[in-house]
Amino acid sequence: MSYNVTLIPGDGIGPEITGSVRQVIEAAGVNINWDIVEAGAAVIPEYGTPLPEYVIESIKKNKVALKGPVTTPVGKGFRSVNVALRKELNLYANLRPAKSLPGINTRYEDIDLVVVRENTEDLYAGVEHMVGQDAAESIKIITREASESIVRFAFAYALKHDRKKVTAVHKANIMKLSDGLFLECARQVASQYPEIDYEEAIVDATSMKLVQDPKTFDVMVMPNLYGDIISDLCAGLIGGLGLAPGANIGTEYAIFESVHGSAPDIAGQDLANPLAIIQSASLMLQHLGEHKAAETIYQAMVRVLQEGKYKTKDLGGSSTTTELTEAIIANMG
Ligand code: NAI
Repeated sequence: MSYNVTLIPGDGIGPEITGSVRQVIEAAGVNINWDIVEAGAAVIPEYGTPLPEYVIESIKKNKVALKGPVTTPVGKGFRSVNVALRKELNLYANLRPAKSLPGINTRYEDIDLVVVRENTEDLYAGVEHMVGQDAAESIKIITREASESIVRFAFAYALKHDRKKVTAVHKANIMKLSDGLFLECARQVASQYPEIDYEEAIVDATSMKLVQDPKTFDVMVMPNLYGDIISDLCAGLIGGLGLAPGANIGTEYAIFESVHGSAPDIAGQDLANPLAIIQSASLMLQHLGEHKAAETIYQAMVRVLQEGKYKTKDLGGSSTTTELTEAIIANMG
């Protein structure tokens, strides 16, 4: 059995970590024909856009993509390729699990949380304009359709993965209309899943609670911007961005990528931690039905971390991307 999967290596550390993950997948015995397509600033001179149509077409054809990070200029320049892809392919759900790994020095040892982030609207839609010279306005868009879809995704995920509770995270005390609508949809969907506990939490209090007592949470569902921030917080709880996987899922297509960005500060030096994208690839293999290979890769990674000999710099070690990749491959029993 072989699969056709789109690969967007991305920029910064993207080519290094996607190179690593390709070797790991191959070693796990899964045969993937990679359709390699480029996006980001580097392709603008040739295509006039950071997201050429052929990238979208490739994902539409293959249905599944693995993506390295793509740099987005701050303030001015082109719109985020990531945001555009999520909108263009209606990848409405962003799944970001945060699970403790052995051998990583963190405050908590057995974290097992899942952030489900709405992926297509909210302030993150980037609908903004100047009002005269000295004021700017960003529009927060929350719709019933997107809110119901994301909450339904969270409950369906909870049910499928034997999770006990879904928490809807909001700020409806202040944004009574927009977050109020999100909450109304959450309550309505929650009433259809009596077997899963439902809870609501305000986003600021959630941040504090996550730092003080993260085990009170299980699956958390929230609008786009809160999800962006809270999922980085959760990555911090398990040891940093180099360990946090993610998936962008829609009804037809799915793109798997790490939570972290292109890390320009360490790009090209063989220093990047490939474990986030390796775990994202493990999620991708599960999505493809390759459960055994997904588990083989995950357990090999766990064994390497347990042994503690190979860690990249962000984890307090001195191993290179290459050495860590080779250690994982060597540990596939
Ligand atoms: P970042 O995640 O790239 O880096 C933040 C810090 O974490 C840096 O010190 C970096 O060295 C470290 N880091 C991140 N990933 C690491 C890894 N795998 N191994 C070791 N250290 C790692 O966030 P930053 O600097 O805010 O963003 C850089 C660029 O990436 C920006 O242009 C941003 O827009 C873009 N970005 C792209 C994403 C995507 O393509 N999905 C997601 C987030 C940011």
